[in-house]
Parts: sequence; structure tokens; C-alpha cells
Amino acid sequence: SRTVRRGDDGVLTVGGIPVTTLAEEFGTPAYILDEADFRARCRAWADAFGADADVFYAGKAFLSRAVVRWLHEEGLNLDVCSGGELATALSAGMPAERIAFHGNNKTEAEIRRAVEAGVGRIVLDSFQEIVRVAHVAQALGRRQRVQIRVTVGVEAHTHEFIATAHEDQKFGIALAGGQAAEAVRRTLQLDGLELVGIHSHIGSQIFDMAGFEVAARRVVALLAEVRDEHGVELPEIDLGGGLGIAYTPDDDPREPHEIAKALGEIVRRECDAAGLATPRISVEPGRAIVGPTAFTVYEVGTIKPLEGLRTYVSVDGGMSDNIRTALYDAEYTVSLVSRTSDAEPVLCRVVGKHCESGDIVVRDAFLPADLAPGDLIAVPATGAYCRSMASNYNHALRPPVVAVADGAARVIVRRETEEDLLRLDVG
Ligand code: LLP
Repeated sequence: SRTVRRGDDGVLTVGGIPVTTLAEEFGTPAYILDEADFRARCRAWADAFGADADVFYAGKAFLSRAVVRWLHEEGLNLDVCSGGELATALSAGMPAERIAFHGNNKTEAEIRRAVEAGVGRIVLDSFQEIVRVAHVAQALGRRQRVQIRVTVGVEAHTHEFIATAHEDQKFGIALAGGQAAEAVRRTLQLDGLELVGIHSHIGSQIFDMAGFEVAARRVVALLAEVRDEHGVELPEIDLGGGLGIAYTPDDDPREPHEIAKALGEIVRRECDAAGLATPRISVEPGRAIVGPTAFTVYEVGTIKPLEGLRTYVSVDGGMSDNIRTALYDAEYTVSLVSRTSDAEPVLCRVVGKHCESGDIVVRDAFLPADLAPGDLIAVPATGAYCRSMASNYNHALRPPVVAVADGAARVIVRRETEEDLLRLDVG
């Protein structure tokens, strides 16, 4: 992140505050988030997409009330995918019309709450949901703006994409077999719904724009089909999130302005070819905004050198604060941040304190041979999908999120306490 530096004494500072001071004040493990960096990334996305497009931050990556306020202040919109995220957004004052509501199994109660609040759009994910949302809207005397989420037959992976003929996953309605066209037909017939566009999300941690290009082409083809059949030009296309970030030096992410330019050109070209007016484009980056803005600081505990293998370095957190390594084989880096060391680097595996051997934070890392209990180590790029996927496994207390801005640090999500845990235990 942008305000992170390393002093001559080897101590990492963020916004000018030494990580040693942060650890003393807030304890470890802790997620340290650089607010200036978060805001700068919001602005970079908003500026890159300009006035003719909309950026929706994907709250699933990390959401808190402070985050909602920053988004609001920086002019971003918000994508929520549950009643809980919606409640957080509304309670922190995000205007409902700037919220999009996603999910493959929204409950009736969630839909009612979203329609009542007046969310800007609900992204319809199934045939049943078309009817459900229409009923709720009608009962409330509303006309709800909606998009239809389609699956375009592109499966995105890191650095590559594979076109799949078959849609074997739970989200959206397939373009294949005329399914999406049928969904449009049904949506247009229902009084409670105002169909404003088509939505596509192809995957996550993607570096190659080729998958987006195929998606955009197929979505525009559907818009042309809709115009031909119904005489209606749908005004919006949402191309989802999924833009990758650098977890390791091998990752080479695209910048927001490159992404905006590429997507804008593809959509314009395809629409021109189809004789359509260019629709308003929106995107939903989560990881690309918040991922790089935070790191996790841990205190080193037990160190166990295994002859001829590697050294196991145990930290005071683990899979409860970062499940991504265990779940996706995700790669992270790690470094000593509380002092300098001239000791030779040795191959280490950074592991947590949970009761299973898959509890790995960083699979392969070089740390100095003189690493000792009490040292602080930091894992960068943990802003996305770490706190938001944190658990209480082994009754771990979920770490706080500490925001640093203007040379001051403040807790935006506090550390859990044993009282928090026991409050739910009413047996
Ligand atoms: N829009 C939709 C409809 C999504 O499903 C997602 C992510 C996003 C936007 C934001 O994607 P992003 O820009 O953050 O990649 N837990 C996984 C990632 C799951 C993403 C799910 N959907 C991880 O830790 O990598």
C-alpha cells in the first residue's frame, strides 16, 4: 500500500506509524488498513471509468461502516450480496439508490427489505427470483429496477480463460439455449419490474482481459437480440468484478485506466457493429480496491526447524484470519517487520495456531535464520477476503481492523472478546 515504508531500523511504518507501536496498542494479529490508499484506489477507479460509467465496490471483499462512509465520500456505489451487507450499508448512510443487491438465493425478507429501502437495482439470478421480486415490488406498490445476471459460457482463471459450452455452477441464467432471452421475456412482462440491463461476472483474480472481451461480446449480442424481439434497447451492462491484484512479485495486475479503456472499447465496438447505442457500463471491483490496502501483522511464537525440510514458524493467528491459503492454495509473501536482520534466509512455512495441519498462512517463505519468538512479521495484501471470511474456529477471536490515516490509527472493527463469543452461547 502507498504509505508503507521501511525505516533504517528495519521497522515497517504505515502512514508514519511504526508497526511496533501499532502492535503494542492494538495487539496481534491485526489487519492494518491504509485509509489513504483505499481512498486513492476508489478515486482511481472512479476517475478511470468517468461520468458515463459506474463503479460498484463489492462489499463481500471487506465491508464495515467506515468503509461504507469512505465509498460514499469518494463517490462510489456498493454491491451487497446479503441482508447483513445491506444492513451495514444502510446503517452507515449509503444512499439506497447507489446499492446493487446480488445473490443466488435472496430470501423473501431480504428482497422486501431491499425493495422497501429503494435499492438502485436488484440483480436477478434465477427464473424463480424474477417472480419473487416482481411480487414483492407489486405488493409494495413499487417498480423495482433490475438487471438479469447471465452466464456467458466463459470460465475465468488466473492468467487464462476457458470457454465452456456447459454452465455447471449455481449463479445466473445461461445465455446458452435461449435461457437468458426467456428471462428477459418474462421480466419485461411483469409490472413490478423495470429491466435496465444485463449483468455478467466471470470470476475472480483475473489478469487477462480476454475473458471480459468474450463476456462483453456475448452480452451485447443479447442486447441486440432483445432489441430485435422487443424493440427495447436496455441501457446498462455490468461486467462484474474479478480484476486481479499482486499477491506475489509474479502477479502483474492491470491498472483501472487500462481496464476502463479496454472494456469501454470492446463494448463500443460491439455495439457499433450491432447498431446499438452504447449502454452505460458498470463494474464491481472488490479485491482490486481493498486487497492491497491492508496487511496482517502477527507475532511469532513457536519456531520448529525440521532437519532437511523447512522451519515451521507459528504465529498467533492462522486459518481463522486468512482462510485463503488453505482454501484456494493462495500465495502470499511475508517479512520480518519489527527489526533488521543480517542472518541468512531460511526456508520457512508460516502456520497458525489451529488444530489442523492445513492451517497454513504462507506455504513457502524465506525468513531470517535468527527469527525469534516475539518478532513481528507481516503478510501483505490481506485487505480482501480475509477479515470478511474470518471465522471463530477453535473459538479464535477475530482480529481487529485498524485504519491508519493522517498519521493516526483507529480501530474500525474491534477485536472480538471472549464475551462476544459467549454472548451467543445461551445453552
Ligand atoms: N461481483 C460479483 C457478482 C461477484 O460475485 C464478485 C465476487 C465480485 C463482484 C467481486 O470480485 P473481486 O473484484 O473481488 O474479485 N473468496 C474468494 C473470492 C470470491 C469472489 C466472489 N465473487 C477469494 O478469496 O479469492
